[in-house]
Amino acid sequence: MRELDLAGRRLLVRADLNVPLRDGRVADDQRIRASLPTVRAALRAPSAVVLVSHLGRPREGVRDARLSLRPVAERLSQLLGDEVPLHDGAPGDARAATGRAVLCENIRFQRGECSDDDSLARTLAALCDVFVMDAFGCAHRAHASTHGVARHAAGACAGLLMSREIENLGKFFAAAGGPAVAVVGGAKVSGKLPVLESLARRVDTLIVGGGIANTFLAARGFDVGRSLHDKDLVPEARALCERLDEHGCKLLLPCDAVCADELSDTAPVRVKNLDAVGGGDRILDIGPASAARIEQVIAGAARVLWNGPLGAFEHEPFAAGTRRLAGAVARSAAWSLAGGGDTLAAIARFGVGGGISFVSTGGGAFLEFIGGRALPAIEILRQRKENRPPEKMQ
Ligand code: 3PG
Repeated sequence: MRELDLAGRRLLVRADLNVPLRDGRVADDQRIRASLPTVRAALRAPSAVVLVSHLGRPREGVRDARLSLRPVAERLSQLLGDEVPLHDGAPGDARAATGRAVLCENIRFQRGECSDDDSLARTLAALCDVFVMDAFGCAHRAHASTHGVARHAAGACAGLLMSREIENLGKFFAAAGGPAVAVVGGAKVSGKLPVLESLARRVDTLIVGGGIANTFLAARGFDVGRSLHDKDLVPEARALCERLDEHGCKLLLPCDAVCADELSDTAPVRVKNLDAVGGGDRILDIGPASAARIEQVIAGAARVLWNGPLGAFEHEPFAAGTRRLAGAVARSAAWSLAGGGDTLAAIARFGVGGGISFVSTGGGAFLEFIGGRALPAIEILRQRKENRPPEKMQ
C-alpha cells in the first residue's frame, strides 16, 4: 500500500472487523483499532474508501440482524472522528466520496462470499481501482472478498496491518540465537494439533495447556477424569510425542492441576498432582507447580510465541495459570509474539499488552501462518506482485 499513489483512487479495503458484540455494542474494539492506520492512510491520500468485512458466521445469503456491522460502523466513526455510514444495500452499489469511507454490511450476508463465487468477486472488484487486503485475520479464507476480488481488481496490494503482521510473524522464525519457546493452549484440540509438529521443528520447548495438554496427558497414560480432551486424537498425540523427541523439541506438560466439579466463579477447587487426578475430576487450570516451571522456562527464552490460554481464565478460580503465563511473557526480555481470540482477551484482562513485542489480530490465520501454511489471501497478492497468472484456490 505504501508503494502506490492512491490519491483520487477508489479503494476497496477488506478489513477484519469481526469483533465480539454485547448488548448491540462492540465489546472489544482491538481489531477495529488495528485497522485504523490503513483506513487513515487511505483517507489522507485522499482516496474514496469502501470498507468490507464479515461478522460472525451467518448462514450464507441470509441476513441476521444480530450480526449486522452497524455497531462496528458506529465504533469506527467514533475512533476516526468522522462518520462512516453503513451501506445496507447491494455491495455493487456502495459508493464513497473522495476522502470519505463507507462500510458495507456484513459480506457474509451475500450468497457466494464463502464459496469464493466469481460473480461476487467481480462485483467487488468493479467497485475499486485498487483492492487493499488488510484482513490478516481472514487471510486463511479463500472467500470472494479476501481472495477472488484480488484476482479481478485492477490493482491489489496488502494494507498496513497485513504487512505488519507478515513482518512480525516472520521475525519470530527468522531471528536466530537463544532458546525459542512456544506456548499453545486453549480448547480447540483438533485445529491445533497439526500445527504443533511444524512448530516443534522451529522451537526448543513446546509448552501446552488446556484441552491440548489433557489430550497429551491421556496419551502418556494419565487419567484426566472428566477434563476436556479429544479421545479420538489420543493416538495421534502419542505419535506426536515421539516425533517431537526426534525434532529435538522438549514437550512441557503440566505436573499439577486445578480441578473442580463445575465451571463457575464460585466453584470450590482442588489442587492435585497429575497422578492424583481421575474419576469425576475436571481439570480447569494448571496448578502452581506447573506455573512456576513455565515461568522459569520463559525467563530463560530468547523468543516466545503464545497462542491459547492454559485454563478457563474467564472464571477467577481458574485464572491463575494464564495470569502467571501472561505476566511471565510480558516480563521476559525475549522477543514475544502472541495471537488468537482467547489470547487477546487474556492479554486485555491481565493488562499485559504493553510487555508483548507483537500481538497478532489473527486467530485461525495466526495459527496457520505460524504452522507454515500458505494463506490464500496472501498467496494471491504474491502472485499478482510477481505477475504470475492467478490460480483458483480451494
Ligand atoms: C477470526 O475471528 O479468526 C476471523 O475473523 C475469521 O473468522 P472465521 O473463522 O469465521 O472465518
